[in-house]
Amino acid sequence: MEWEWEWEWEWERTVGVVGPRTPESDADADAGADAGELLAVHSSYPFAHFPVPGAEVRVSGLTWVGVHPAHRRRGILRSIIERHFTDCVERGEPVSALFAAESAIYGRFGYGLAASDLKVTVPRGARLRPVTGTEDLTVRIEILDARRHTDLVADAHRRAGTFSGGLNRPGWATRETVALRERHVSDPAALREGRGARRIAIVERDGEACAYATFQRTVEWADGGPRKTVHTREVIALDPAAAHRLWSVLLDLDLTSEVAASTLPTDDVITHLLVNPLSARPRRSDNVWVRLIDVPAALSGRRYVADLDVVLDVTDDLLPRNAGSWRIRAESLGEVEVERTTASPDLRMSVRDLGAAYLGGVTLAGLATAGLVTEHTHGAHPRGTAQHLGGIRLAARAGVQLGVLSQTPAEGGSSSQEPPSPSGGDGDFACSAGPRSGGTRE
Ligand SMILES: CC(C)(COP(=O)(O)OP(=O)(O)OC[C@H]1O[C@@H](n2cnc3c(N)ncnc32)[C@H](O)[C@@H]1OP(=O)(O)O)[C@@H](O)C(=O)NCCC(=O)NCCS
Repeated sequence: MEWEWEWEWEWERTVGVVGPRTPESDADADAGADAGELLAVHSSYPFAHFPVPGAEVRVSGLTWVGVHPAHRRRGILRSIIERHFTDCVERGEPVSALFAAESAIYGRFGYGLAASDLKVTVPRGARLRPVTGTEDLTVRIEILDARRHTDLVADAHRRAGTFSGGLNRPGWATRETVALRERHVSDPAALREGRGARRIAIVERDGEACAYATFQRTVEWADGGPRKTVHTREVIALDPAAAHRLWSVLLDLDLTSEVAASTLPTDDVITHLLVNPLSARPRRSDNVWVRLIDVPAALSGRRYVADLDVVLDVTDDLLPRNAGSWRIRAESLGEVEVERTTASPDLRMSVRDLGAAYLGGVTLAGLATAGLVTEHTHGAHPRGTAQHLGGIRLAARAGVQLGVLSQTPAEGGSSSQEPPSPSGGDGDFACSAGPRSGGTRE
């Protein structure tokens, strides 16, 4: 299917793989004299301020990966990944991240699953626990319009990634470029898949937006009347009352029977608000995959909950300069030093599993139970306060818990909590379908 893309693109970061000329490519009116057949393409989004625990790093969001079906399984993806890593190094982006169309693809290239997200299907009229302060809020519902809503959506989304006291939400990627901002308010007819035009519900307090949801509806006629499903793309709220008001509206739209919401954080407010949480049939899905391109830069680019002095032995077949032993010394939520060392390692792991733990939601302790992280300094750690499991607390917890942790003993509490799920919206760096057909994971 051919269609015009209706949003900006990071063209200067987009790379095509072109094969020999063919009659088909020669017939392409757009092709230059030297053009051959387009075999593959990839691109990336720049995130100069990607939130990681306690800090921000530069991240390259790999996207739009596609190989022409006639040329697949010949190593083109592998060459794309190698080119992408080279570009990351040249651009000074120590981390790459992506959403995977198929989750079995990217582990072999050193991407680790750093966060999951949640899908729910909430029946219309599902009861919510009460929240105070909803009375003063007003709601308007409009057709989503890029000219009117781009700034509102970008601003509210950015603010939703920051907690009181300035704590960040690791993985909550701020939409820094026009292309990223416009993606989330675009509504290409070709991608509607039989659904209606996209709408936006905006909750306001004193005329200022404090929550929004973008959504579409599908209609199915059944015995007893219409059964419309409300498909949300984003449900973002800045405070509990705003979240309650927004969900109340979504769950009470006329002619509908349920709200299907995806890419929610695993600790999303709806999981706490519902009187009957399981009525939403929660399902987990993979969300952000993280690849450390430059291990010392990435590890020194984030903060750690506890004081830390630990040696990691990292394996990395694709980027050998990451491989070997790295000593990390960090003050709790403070300065970090990472340097090469010949000291014997406390922990051994692949760069994939280090990437999985990088945002703080997947614990090294959890990976160790699966044999993916090996502990060499068992039990009490000789060089720091991260004694529990010999520094496995390295990854600590995600930003939302940092405030809590700073008031509680480092050894206390659960270390297996999920991080707040990244991005809160689909497609920030989704890997997409093939170059000719386009389309992103919804
Ligand atoms: C997925 C896709 C990009 C793979 O490209 P490709 O050029 O065929 O991949 P390569 O030949 O370089 O394969 C590299 C490795 O990935 C593996 N691989 C490729 N596609 C895979 C898939 N869908 N699932 C699991 N593994 C896959 C290959 O087996 C190979 O493994 P190996 O190195 O262990 O031998 C291509 O088939 C495609 O464009 N598919 C449709 C769009 C899509 O799914 N894009 C991904 C968006 S996240």
